Amino acid sequence: MLSGEVIAVTSGKGGVGKSTVSVNLAIALARKGLDVALIDLDIYGFSVPKMMNLSNRPKTFNGRIIPIESHGVKVMSMGFLVKDNDPVVWRGPMLGKMVEHFKNDVTWGKLDYCIIDMPPGTGDVALDLHHHIPQSKEIIVTTPHQTASLVAERAGKMTIKANHDILGIVENMSYFQPKDQSEKYYIFGKDGGDLLADTLNSDVLARLPIEEPNESSQTPSIYAENTNLCHHYDHLATRVDEKIAHKAH
Ligand SMILES: Nc1ncnc2c1ncn2[C@@H]1O[C@H](COP(=O)(O)OP(=O)(O)OP(=O)(O)O)[C@@H](O)[C@H]1O
Ligand SMILES: [Mg+2]
Repeated sequence: MLSGEVIAVTSGKGGVGKSTVSVNLAIALARKGLDVALIDLDIYGFSVPKMMNLSNRPKTFNGRIIPIESHGVKVMSMGFLVKDNDPVVWRGPMLGKMVEHFKNDVTWGKLDYCIIDMPPGTGDVALDLHHHIPQSKEIIVTTPHQTASLVAERAGKMTIKANHDILGIVENMSYFQPKDQSEKYYIFGKDGGDLLADTLNSDVLARLPIEEPNESSQTPSIYAENTNLCHHYDHLATRVDEKIAHKAH
């Protein structure tokens, strides 16, 4: 069974950084000494195994799946269950079974947090999540671009309709700040996060800068300790943990 606080990282829009935020937030929470799981629910477009450089299939014990542990996080992804990067060709009802499968048939152990990387949009997987894990709270990712924020808003409105809590907004790719310069360049505009927070009556938990990936690393999407973005993610993890503690009282 899945214990702990379940946080789905979502957005109506693709390519805004949901997977990047999911992976780095999960790792930042684990760095704080918390027990953390990460579920990649992007069934067709899974990316977490590649981002974490995981190629082994999980082992099973007594018919249950043992999640793969990496960077202190227990990870489960559709990518572990398909052969050789084959495309997944399932239809809606089977997707629902996957949510149940990951929830019930994986030996998660005790968890403080379970971060769920959602596919883009407000489709079947989001409906299934609302149905099978009704207690899940959501973080909505947007870029500062106003169109992105408008599309992200759809995911937020769906969350509200389903009576889920919106924990807050993460504005990703907020600005670019060249090394050793104080000036920030707002490449995608400035207001997307605030606009979305106002509409959904929520607040912006983090504004994450654009940073070049470290291409010499095996895991360029994971921000190494002591990098600028790693500090931003530590701060985000603290805000998330405080918000959850506050809501629990
Ligand atoms: N802050 C950032 N700075 C620079 N590049 C970033 C940043 N955040 C994300 N990216 C890059 O943007 C691309 C999209 O990110 P990601 O895959 O996390 O988005 P996504 O919302 O999960 O996409 P999808 O909708 O396809 O699942 C990736 O190449 C990622 O490395
Ligand atoms: Mg993704």
